[in-house]
Formats: sequence, C-alpha cells, structure tokens
Amino acid sequence: MLFLQTFKKKNIMKNSTQLDKGSAQKEKTKLHPRNKHRSRYDFSKLIASCPDLSPFVRPNKYGDESIDFADPKAVIMLNKALLKHFYGIDHWDIPAGYLTPPIPGRANYIHYMADLLASKNFGKMPIGPQIKCLDIGVGANCIYPIIGSIEYGWSFIGSDTDPVAIESASKIVELNPAIRKNVELKLQADPNDYLYNIIDKNQHIDLTICNPPFHASLAEAQAGTLRKVKNLSRKKVVDPIKNFGGQNSELWCEGGEKRFVNKMIRESKKFSASCYWFSSLISKESNLKSAYATLEKVEAAEFKTIPMGQGNKKSRIVAWTFFSPEQQKMWVEKRWGE
Ligand SMILES: C[S@@+](CC[C@H](N)C(=O)[O-])C[C@H]1O[C@@H](n2cnc3c(N)ncnc32)[C@H](O)[C@@H]1O
Repeated sequence: MLFLQTFKKKNIMKNSTQLDKGSAQKEKTKLHPRNKHRSRYDFSKLIASCPDLSPFVRPNKYGDESIDFADPKAVIMLNKALLKHFYGIDHWDIPAGYLTPPIPGRANYIHYMADLLASKNFGKMPIGPQIKCLDIGVGANCIYPIIGSIEYGWSFIGSDTDPVAIESASKIVELNPAIRKNVELKLQADPNDYLYNIIDKNQHIDLTICNPPFHASLAEAQAGTLRKVKNLSRKKVVDPIKNFGGQNSELWCEGGEKRFVNKMIRESKKFSASCYWFSSLISKESNLKSAYATLEKVEAAEFKTIPMGQGNKKSRIVAWTFFSPEQQKMWVEKRWGE
C-alpha cells in the first residue's frame, strides 16, 4: 500500500514542473537560482493579483492550497496569475487547445542563456533592448519573449509557422505595453526553414532560442500526452490533446525533435556571421549524439550543453557559435560595450 502511494506520488511529480509539491518541499532547488518560481506558490498573493484564480484554488492532499493540475482551465488561470504577479503581464490568453507552458521551466531556459552571455561578458549580465534574441517557434503563448523582455529587457523576434500562433502572440504583445516595444512577430512561411525568411544576413542577433516540437508523429504525440494526463488524473481521457493543450504543430513534426534540431544546426551555418549564440532545448538525451555530430560537421567553433533540472524532469540546452574567441571578443565589445 505504502509502495503504491509512493509510486503514484512520484509519477504525478515527474510530469509537471508547474506542480506545487507537498508542504515538505519548501523550495524548488532544481530551478535556476534567479528563477522567480523556486518558492511554493503563495496563493493569497496570486489571488490578490488575479482574483479569477480564486475559484480554482482548493486544498491538495497535504492540506496546502493548490489547484487541480489535471484541469486545463485551472492551469491556464494559474499561468495568468503567475504572469500578472511576477512579470506584470495584464493580458495573457491562448486559443483553445494550444499549449499551456509550465512557466518555471520556460523561465529556466532564459536564465541559463543570460548566464551564458554573462560568461562571455566578464560575468556581467548583458541587459537592455540592444540584446536581440530570436525565438524560433514562439507559439501562441509567446512565453519566452515575455520572460526575456521583462527579466532582462532584451528585444525579441518571435517566429512561427502557425498563423494562429502568430495572431495570438501578436495579441498578447499588443495588449501589454510592458513588452510591446521589444517584441516583433513573424510568420515563417516555409516549415523547412528556421532563419531564412525571418532574419537577413546583415542583421545582428545575439542569441537564438528554440523549444522544438518533440514528437515524430501525431500518434506518438497523442500517446505522450495521454501518459502525462493519466499521471495527473484518474479520469478517463478520450482526446488528450484537445483536452489538455498542444496543437499538432506544437507537439510533433516529421522526424521529431532530432530532425528539427539537426536541420536548424545545418541552416545556422549559413547565418554564422549574423548571430553569436544559437541554441535549442533538447528534451531527449539520446538526441544529443546526432546534434553533436552535426555540430562537428558544420564546424561550430564552440558548443555547450547546459543541463537543466525542473522537478524530476531533466532537460538540457545545446548552444553553439561559429565565432572564434577573438571574434567573440569583438562582438561583445562592439555590441554590448557601454
Ligand atoms: C513546442 S512548441 C513551442 C511553443 C512555445 N515556444 C513554448 O515553449 O511553449 C513549437 C513551436 O514551433 C513551431 N514551429 C514548427 N516548425 C517551425 C519552423 N520551421 N519555424 C518556426 N516555428 C516552427 C510550432 O508551430 C510550435 O508553435
């Protein structure tokens, strides 16, 4: 009996970085030190920022205030409250069925990239709109431009192949003066391209980020979502993607994460002089090998793997540059110097 309870608890925790754990866990120490979501959610403060969250808050099995993480409406409302409370975002919404991003995990990526830039800038965090970031696959939720522009003042180009995603992200940007000046959105007309059609070779981009579609087919995406949902809820779920978020293009693409990242690395070579750091999340550890092989093949001058823990889920960023140490120094002096 005890074993079964422990097993269930472990599985529930494994599947959401957004979960607010039992009272025993006070701080989410696996999140980046500057991540604003390391402490337990303070629901009275979140409700004060976003009163609409109130009806979704109820005690969890430890008797602590929480929400039902298996209820997509509750998770969307929690995101609204977190974005309002921690980032001053007054208006945030996504079209029905689109991906509801776990905000703590998304913030991690931005903070680790800020550390990477700082490591090349004598430990000083480059901040302000002159730092240009391209988010490849910004999604309907526009989450990375929100966090990056609020936390570090960076300016963003967000691209996506999905017109509905671009429309939704544009609406978020338009409705929030805090980010309006710093975020531009662009539709990528060709799903086989990542940088072409979005930036031109005379442009200067300090970093690119990307959370690629993970699965290689719709069936695989559905099975993955069903597994997640089953761990969060005992209810029978017929259409997990429809019920729990993630449009087809967000969850899968031909060849999955592996092909997406390898193609992006190959294309990045063509923009080697326009961008300092390219990067992507790689969720599946076994996809690293082929990414490293492609990076060797395109002769990246330097590449790094940055491990990220989020709850019990492990992910990582792979970042690469084509600049030699001297070129890196010149870029930093020219673009980030005071
Ligand atoms: C996993 S979702 C990420 C959404 C958001 N950035 C997030 O982290 O929640 C991947 C996104 O990549 C987009 N996408 C797929 N192929 C693309 C391409 N070639 N260029 C730009 N975006 C692409 C999809 O439409 C989808 O919105």
